[in-house]
Order: sequence, then structure tokens, then C-alpha cells
Amino acid sequence: MSNVMRQVRISGTGMYVPPRVVKNSDLEELMETTDEWIRQRTGIEERHHADPGTGPADLAYESSVRAIEAAGLEPGDLDAILVASLSPHHDFPGVSSFLQDRLGIAGCPTLDLRAQCTGFLYALQVGQLYVASGLYDRVLVCGAEVHSTALDFSTRGRDVAVIFGDGSGAVILEPSEDAERGILSVHLHGQGEHAKRLWVEAPGSSFHPRITHEMLDEGRQYPKMDGRFVFKHAVTRMPEVLHEALDHNKCSIEDLDLCLFHQANLRINEYVAGQLGLPPEKVYSNIQRYGNCSAGAIPMLLDECVRGGRVAEGDLVAMAGFGSGFTWGAALIRW
Ligand code: UT7
Repeated sequence: MSNVMRQVRISGTGMYVPPRVVKNSDLEELMETTDEWIRQRTGIEERHHADPGTGPADLAYESSVRAIEAAGLEPGDLDAILVASLSPHHDFPGVSSFLQDRLGIAGCPTLDLRAQCTGFLYALQVGQLYVASGLYDRVLVCGAEVHSTALDFSTRGRDVAVIFGDGSGAVILEPSEDAERGILSVHLHGQGEHAKRLWVEAPGSSFHPRITHEMLDEGRQYPKMDGRFVFKHAVTRMPEVLHEALDHNKCSIEDLDLCLFHQANLRINEYVAGQLGLPPEKVYSNIQRYGNCSAGAIPMLLDECVRGGRVAEGDLVAMAGFGSGFTWGAALIRW
């Protein structure tokens, strides 16, 4: 490690969703909901669900190989693997261990981070510091979720079940030769007092035993959300932390070329964009097609923008997210 911090850039991106598309009309068959309600309240039209036998490490593998290839690297070139996920492949070890195995490599450290929908931004900051410090040169940062295996598809769980989807996104971090280009800063926050406003209670190691048949019968293994409360905090915290990132870098909203918000609800993001005075052409959304993929959402957005030619060299790109914990954060990148 050196005493001089290095500038860090994203050298490759990738994303993957499982092939099975679940339309709002498919959910109408399972619970009391309507395509109209889902579109109006969330903007979501469809999402992808993994088939049996496919877990988050498998989605992570697909997005990671695309990112590794885009960076012109081989899996064996990686110095560290970071995975953000709230949906573990198994209870332990973490998704990153299974991902390493699927990548066919051994030796480099593997680390899981749990910061739910802000997970990718948390992992991005850790990866940035790994590379900036000189400790590692090539770090894989991946967000991956299989939500569909843990949702209550009865009417009881409809508020949560309709918004989540399965998917993964990944980036490769490397030192930047250009001191002006790369990750300018990442800003993270948390407020644990609201942990139970959006959570999955069981199984939990605080229970003895962690899970019982009674708990399963009561549906305590399904996510519960105080939707209105979460909505209210999301539309406050995202603009706040985005301004923090802009102020830190002496930039303004007008300087932004592209803004990537966590994809939890299109209405949240429309409201936030309005609050910030961001014109629609500077905000890219894909929640209509994928639902909320939690830690996978922001790197999935980024990959679609990179491959779709929506990001040009020199562009100022902002990312902001909010999620369970509560956790929230923002990143500013000079592309
Ligand atoms: O990614 C992590 C962060 N998560 C978020 O940011 C999500 C934030 N919250 C939201 O996006 C919204 O609160 C939801 C989309 C989850 C819900 O929308 P809402 O406008 O806040 O609805 P609500 O929960 O206040 O419910 C309104 C009504 C209720 O019926 P009553 O009590 O008025 O008769 C619900 O039972 O809508 C009903 N409802 C549904 N109806 C049809 C709830 N879910 C559904 C559904 N289909 N899927």
C-alpha cells in the first residue's frame, strides 16, 4: 500500500436477468391485484423471476463474466470479489464464495456486504478504497438478488411481491490513468432505528431456534414493508445525499449528464427528479421491465446506459439509492 490515494475508474460493466418474464397480468392470477394498480403506483410492467435451480450466485456469475470481458480481463485477473445481496444463495457462506467457485478461480478474497437496496453503493465504496489505497488493482463489485423465492404471492403479500424482481449487475474497478476521470466520491448513510420498517424477520439467529413451523405458518419469513413510511424517507434522503455528493465535488445539478436512481418505484424517482429540477432526459429508468432488483438495480442501470451509448467519455454520472436499514447513499463519477 502507498500513502498516495489513486484515482479509481469503472473499466467494465455487465448485467443479467433470468429469462422468465412475469407480467403484471401473471400476478393477477395469484393475488388480488391489477395491472393498472401496479403501473399507476409503481410504473412496473414486468419483472424476471429465476427458475428452480438458479440462485443469486448464478445471476452474479452471468453479470460478472460480462463485466470482466468488457474490461478486457480474465476471471483469474481479479484481486478481490465483493458482492452486495440481501438474498443469500445459502445461509452461509456468502454469495461471493459461490460466485468465486463459479468463476473457476481461487485465492483472492471474497466479501459479502449487506446494505439491501443501497448495497451496491456500499460495495462500490469499499472497492474504490481497495483500489485507491493500492491494496488491489482489479476488483469485481457485483449486486445480485433472487427475490422471487422469498415473496408472499398471496394477497397478504401483494404490496411487496409486485415490486421486486430478480437480477444482477456488476462492475470492474481499476486504477485510472487520468486523474480527472473515475469515481469522484461515494457518500453513505444509515438509520437503524427504522430497521423494522422494511425487513424480513425470520429466520433469525436471535430466535431459539432460528425458525419454527409456527413462524412459517404466520408468514414471518416474508418481507414486510411500511410502504408509505419508506416512500416518504426515500424521496427526502435521495435528493439530500445527491446534493451532499454534488457539494463535496463543487458541482451543481446542471453539471449532471446522467442520473441513475435506485429502481424501487418509478413514482419515487419522478418525484425526486422533480424536486431536484432534473430534466427527464437526464434520468434513466428500467424498473418498468425489471421491477426492484435491490443491490442489482444500480449496476444494471449503468450497464444498460454504457452498452446503449447513453454515457460518453467525460460525462458526469450520479447514482443515488435508498433502502432497508434504513440505508442510503450517492456516488458521483466522471466517466
Ligand atoms: O427498495 C427499497 C425501498 N422500497 C421503496 O422505496 C418502496 C416504497 N413504497 C412504495 O413504493 C409504495 O408505498 C407501494 C408501491 C409499496 C404501495 O403504494 P401506496 O400508494 O403507498 O399504497 P398503500 O400501501 O398505501 O396501499 C393503498 C391501497 C391499500 O388498500 P386500502 O387499505 O386503501 O383498501 C392496499 O391494501 O392499495 C392496496 N394495495 C394493493 N392493491 C392492489 C397494496 N398493494 C396492492 C397491490 N394491488 N399490489
